[in-house]
Amino acid sequence: MKSAFGIIAVSSSLSSVLAASYSRSENIVGTGFYNSFNFEAIPDPTDGRVNYVSEATAKSQNLTFASANTFILRADFKTVISDSSATGRNSVRIRTNNAYTTHAAVFDIVHMPQGCGTWPAVWETNEATWPAGGEVDIIEGVNDQGTDQVTLHTNPGCTMPATRTQTGTTLLTNCDVNAAGNSGCGVSVGTAPSYGPTFNADGGGWYAIERTLTFINVWFWSRKATNVPADVRAGGTAVNTGNWGTPAANFPNTDCNLAQFFSANNIIINLTFCGSWAGQAAIYGASGCPSTCTSYVDANPAAFANAYFQFNSINIYE
Ligand SMILES: *[C@@H]1O[C@H](CO)[C@@H](O)[C@H](O)[C@H]1NC(C)=O
Ligand SMILES: *[C@@H]1O[C@H](CO)[C@@H](O)[C@H](O)[C@H]1NC(C)=O
Repeated sequence: MKSAFGIIAVSSSLSSVLAASYSRSENIVGTGFYNSFNFEAIPDPTDGRVNYVSEATAKSQNLTFASANTFILRADFKTVISDSSATGRNSVRIRTNNAYTTHAAVFDIVHMPQGCGTWPAVWETNEATWPAGGEVDIIEGVNDQGTDQVTLHTNPGCTMPATRTQTGTTLLTNCDVNAAGNSGCGVSVGTAPSYGPTFNADGGGWYAIERTLTFINVWFWSRKATNVPADVRAGGTAVNTGNWGTPAANFPNTDCNLAQFFSANNIIINLTFCGSWAGQAAIYGASGCPSTCTSYVDANPAAFANAYFQFNSINIYE
């Protein structure tokens, strides 16, 4: 930990000197999601009550749907899971074909999955080398509870200072996947409409990430916020993160060599159920959700009619 003077110096440089202009390298909209992402029909690494399907199955069951300007990704909401050998409810996990090092990305999202047992995520990682290469969870939460959590997960040796320039609240500070049951170093975004039903009620909003060699920042603006930066709202060909204000979550390189712990990462969007976070009996029960997570997910397809992501766009800037 540096002196107070050092912290002030770092935070002022974050907001001015290091802020950067970026040009758009990818504009992912509507049917373009099928070109930029591949479908991962894999067993869920978090042991969720889920069956990730292929692109062909997703299309035929309308679990993904694209028009010229909308992309929807959802779980099945029609089928009772009664086969005891089933791994769970059909859902979708997609990963970008491209991988990104230093970049900014803006996610314009109208709706995110909600409902008891849901565990949606928008995140960046290198699955082939994980935890080497790092992981940034941009959107994550469970069971409609609370606000968004932004979290880094890394190899041992990367920690975050308790105090930094962000509007969110620091949770744990050790990013090591081996610490605290892989809780990671998280930041609670705090803004009520950042997650779940309240996010959806406001028409969603924008999440943005900026990753440089010296910091990783994540911002959230509700659709109804009055401080949405013009370049974020426009989704145009350039952004200047210097105009985005204090991030919700700030991960500086003070005690974490970001260039060492983070490699080129893909963006992954997944929607699982239950599993190692949402399904923990204490967490599921404390959410006010009925029955047990697995039996609820199996028996109540109609409860998942709102378990979907709806994207206006994802824009990548490098
Ligand atoms: C597929 O999903 C889209 C988006 O939710 C919906 O508008 C459309 O009606 C659905 N199509 C069918 C055949 O259910
Ligand atoms: C997606 O999978 C990764 C592991 O590969 C996990 O860290 C993340 O929590 C999962 N989230 C969901 C919603 O499936």
